Amino acid sequence: MRLPDHKEERIRTNEEVEQIYLDQNYSNEVYSGKKYFIKTYGCQMNVHDSEEISYRLETLGFEKVEELEDADLVILNTCAIRENAHDKLYGFLGRCKHLKDTKKDLIICICGCMAQEERVVNEILTKYPYVDIVFGTHNIHELQDMLLNRVKGTDIEVYSYEGKVYENINYKRDSKVKAWVNIQYGCDKFCTYCIVPYTRGKQRSRKSSEILKEVECLKENGYKEVTLLGQNVNAYGKDIEGELSFAELLESVAKTGIDRVRFVTSHPWDFTSEMVDIIAKYANVMPYIHLPLQSGSSNILKLMGRKYTKEEYLKLYKEIREKVKGSSITTDIIVGFPGETEEDFNDTLDVVNECKFDSAFTFIFSPREGTPAEKMEDNVSLKEKEDRLHRLNDVINKYSLIHNEECVGKTFKVLLEGVSEKDDTKAFGYTDHMKLVNVKGGLDYIGEIVDVTITDAKSFSLDGEIKK
Ligand code: SAH
Ligand code: SF4
Ligand code: F3S
Repeated sequence: MRLPDHKEERIRTNEEVEQIYLDQNYSNEVYSGKKYFIKTYGCQMNVHDSEEISYRLETLGFEKVEELEDADLVILNTCAIRENAHDKLYGFLGRCKHLKDTKKDLIICICGCMAQEERVVNEILTKYPYVDIVFGTHNIHELQDMLLNRVKGTDIEVYSYEGKVYENINYKRDSKVKAWVNIQYGCDKFCTYCIVPYTRGKQRSRKSSEILKEVECLKENGYKEVTLLGQNVNAYGKDIEGELSFAELLESVAKTGIDRVRFVTSHPWDFTSEMVDIIAKYANVMPYIHLPLQSGSSNILKLMGRKYTKEEYLKLYKEIREKVKGSSITTDIIVGFPGETEEDFNDTLDVVNECKFDSAFTFIFSPREGTPAEKMEDNVSLKEKEDRLHRLNDVINKYSLIHNEECVGKTFKVLLEGVSEKDDTKAFGYTDHMKLVNVKGGLDYIGEIVDVTITDAKSFSLDGEIKK
């Protein structure tokens, strides 16, 4: 494993690295006609990294396939956020092994956040010798080199230090109408349960000038929506002297005139009134905020290292709802954190009942190796955790349905993205406030922002038709 001891031998001059990043070295002859299959777990960071990986593979001549069985190269972009992520990896590796038994030249490659965990890399080395390549989140740009120079046996390149911020990265974007734009890498909030600062490194913001250049370029190429991406976008720029604040960046992106601007994820700690005002002021900044609560109990929030109280969260929440017209707010909640009592859990239910979130992702606490919470006494039984999750989901789903039902009969702007998965006579898209709508009569308008009248509401989606 390439850990800091080996760092020196891998260091290249800036020019060499830039060269690699700009892909000027690669010819597409070597792997021409070969097929790759990529499976992505985890958050939007990983989804966007997979777009970079896909681009890099295609510079070598690889073509993408949708079925594992058709592949000459399998890439698994992993997530480490909860224990079930591990189960998914090992389950998938089983399928790959099976395929490799009949297809000897199959190249199996593991990357992403789990590849940054030393235990996992060691486990792959010892128990899964048929894996060919492992690389981490800090050295995606080595992928072409690794494939070109492949030696027999597992080739492992995982840097444990966070790299510099690279610019001019190319992507093979999944969508032609909406695009992810990284504004920062890593996270240094170190919430006590979370593995992300270990798998992605400390926060590194991109320069605002480069971000704006990318947005302008996307706009020129017909993109209608950008989502500014980071684990804690509100802390954007704090690691660069003299850089714009997130509020200023958001304003500058809005002023490019691109149709829609979104951003994820917000941390209540760094969310200022100035940011709320900018969201409210610009019509092209979408009125949708994902604002993870994690817990409604100030005691548990303290143990989680979230650095806000129940009251502070509620104050911010109310400010957003009051200032941003037609907003929707969603959240993340963890139940069963070590030490969570029934009273603490009731505090969470209180906040949910007060906020009436549009929707929420809810999780059972999962101890992650090397995090402070792993060492806290996990004194909530699994039965209790499951029971709390169940009770919480009932309340969350009740409010989701109410919010969706309130949309019926109203007309919203929807960016139509493609053919609906459930019904191929309809198109799907999202409203400004991020509600998924399946649209009758929408197939002729894919790629456009259209007025859609909502005809029916379900818990997790809406039905609508093009406004006559
Ligand atoms: N940066 C974002 C969240 C990234 S992870 C933020 O700060 O909100 C996405 C969600 O996974 C988190 O919001 C949290 O609710 C959940 N999560 C993270 N670590 C977890 C753990 N160890 N156990 C259970 N859920 C966890
Ligand atoms: Fe994890 Fe906290 Fe950073 Fe979010 S802010 S990625 S929960 S450490
Ligand atoms: Fe998972 Fe890594 Fe994202 S751990 S949630 S893929 S940053």
